[in-house]
Amino acid sequence: MALLDIIRPGNVTMPEYYKQRTEQEMSRRIGEIKRAYGTDLFIPGHHYQKDEVIRFADTTGDSLQLAQVAAGNQKAKYIVFCGVHFMAETTDMLTHDRQMVVLPDMRAGCSMADMANLTQMHRAWNSLVSQFGDNIIPLTYVNSTADIKAFVGQHEGATVTSSNAKKVLAWALSKKARVLFLPDQHLGRNTAFDLGIPLTDMAVWDPEQEALLTQRTPDEIKIILWKGHCSVHEKFTVQNIRDIHVRDTNFRIIVHPECSRDVVAASDLAGSTKYIIDTIASSPSGSKWAIGTEMNLVNRLIRQHPDKHIVSLNPDMCPCLTMNRIDMPHLLWALERIEQDDPVGVIRVDPCITRYALLALNRMLNIV
Ligand code: 13P
Ligand code: SF4
Repeated sequence: MALLDIIRPGNVTMPEYYKQRTEQEMSRRIGEIKRAYGTDLFIPGHHYQKDEVIRFADTTGDSLQLAQVAAGNQKAKYIVFCGVHFMAETTDMLTHDRQMVVLPDMRAGCSMADMANLTQMHRAWNSLVSQFGDNIIPLTYVNSTADIKAFVGQHEGATVTSSNAKKVLAWALSKKARVLFLPDQHLGRNTAFDLGIPLTDMAVWDPEQEALLTQRTPDEIKIILWKGHCSVHEKFTVQNIRDIHVRDTNFRIIVHPECSRDVVAASDLAGSTKYIIDTIASSPSGSKWAIGTEMNLVNRLIRQHPDKHIVSLNPDMCPCLTMNRIDMPHLLWALERIEQDDPVGVIRVDPCITRYALLALNRMLNIV
């Protein structure tokens, strides 16, 4: 969702008085509404959400888990999605028309998803097809807008998440000789590298310059990486890893694959949000971890595992600002507006876009 969409005049903002309500009162009201609606109301929460929101979630998960849960929920009339805009769009597309998806704050976008728009995608595709012929298949990270997913679905491609990127990329390479991976160049590069593809066989597509940044001939390129990134995960550096090891060489480094190739290569382990959570949970008491992912999750892991020594890989790290837009006041506001039969933050993806985007989403869900 681009900034202009967020500030569109039709988008209502939360009344100021919600900020004055006490935590106790808000918590009581949220609990009351949840009990009154029962299974008609479902609140999924992404692991990067704040604790004040996560405590009300009916289920928590990473992008893949939440997409799977959405696809399986036929019952809830209202799905109040605690996460970011592209996740709420995906949930709307995977659920029935009679179900309503609500995002408590429409400003909860994703800067990475905004790095690829449909005009850029058409231009990139036309240029790449003229260079490579039609032996190319698009894959989009779920962290993308619904219309990008629809374009990918229409062109025989699929969505991926950080949990299944390896499987989906292998599937794509069994279909066509080369892959356009968007919008996160780092996830694309790290995943292709894990599949044994040399970095020299990858080139970056710059949507601003509308150019493929490579010295190599088209025949030598197997993976085309869109020049996009996550502004949260790009902040982790190899210097952060050195600094941790200067303090104590016993720290193991685990990072999300949205981090750059250098950082992933210098780490002990890399994997999706779920992989990080599971690895820390199953590690022995007393083990030492420096984690390279979103701060709300790192802080939660620190609290959940007092027997382990856990730190953020970057001590100056901030949480994902857009994920953080969803807070207790916005959650309560969204719920009270449902109660008043006047919902706000309703996410409805155009049926034409949904039709094609579902092709991409379902291809992914059938692979994993
Ligand atoms: P996952 O939930 O797939 O780990 O992705 C992390 C992320 O950046 C979500 O926006
Ligand atoms: Fe987007 Fe990165 Fe925030 Fe995830 S963590 S929502 S990819 S900006």
